[in-house]
Amino acid sequence: MKHIDVCLTPELLDLHDVDNTIVVVADVFRATSCMVTAFAYGVGSIIPVATVEECRDLQQRGYLAAAERNARTVEGFDLDNSPFSYMDERLEGADIAMTTTNGTLAITKSRTAVKVLVGSFLNLDAVANYLRGQSYDVLVLCAGWKGRVNLEDTLFAGALADRLKDDYSMMEDSVLMAHRLYVDGKDNLISYLANASHIRRLQRLGIQKDIAYCLQHDLYDVVPVLRGNALVKMEI
Ligand code: MLT
Repeated sequence: MKHIDVCLTPELLDLHDVDNTIVVVADVFRATSCMVTAFAYGVGSIIPVATVEECRDLQQRGYLAAAERNARTVEGFDLDNSPFSYMDERLEGADIAMTTTNGTLAITKSRTAVKVLVGSFLNLDAVANYLRGQSYDVLVLCAGWKGRVNLEDTLFAGALADRLKDDYSMMEDSVLMAHRLYVDGKDNLISYLANASHIRRLQRLGIQKDIAYCLQHDLYDVVPVLRGNALVKMEI
């Protein structure tokens, strides 16, 4: 049977055999929720980069560019990191360069995987359905916060493990923990996450509506996949 495992933070990624697995990167608040929304609304591609400098360089070469640090938009960039900013028909077919504090870094760190997929609650079922048809083991990489574990990405990992429990075995404690947390919290994720650090950070910045939006399950039948250096929408 195939295995599903969870890497609770990119700092632990070296402990995993990334080269022989499909990696699903999750940064529920908000980078991967933004990406899924952007593809659902028709953007052409997203180049995830680790640094603001790389993003600025791509902007100067003609890309629309999104840069976020500490949940704020970096000055001089075209787009922020709210999913609502990507619900815009003017972005249809656009090629976007993006850097975020944790999400894009986690994607760039996973590059050597068999495939890198972008996951969020918004496309949970689409990702699970795609993985059921694959023969590789799966590693969910939680983007966390600056190397630390966070609750929301761990809950997403547990949710994906729950959807795949008949097809993938859970052998490692990290996936068992994530799954247990999700089972405990799934009936009311908003209150389960009430004291989570990034929720408090977003609330301080007045970004409440993104929180409820990003916790909705199965809104979009979209699976972003890394092809070369760009994320594109997988044909499913
Ligand atoms: C990240 O990559 O850490 C984020 O998506 C932070 C945010 O803008 O909420």
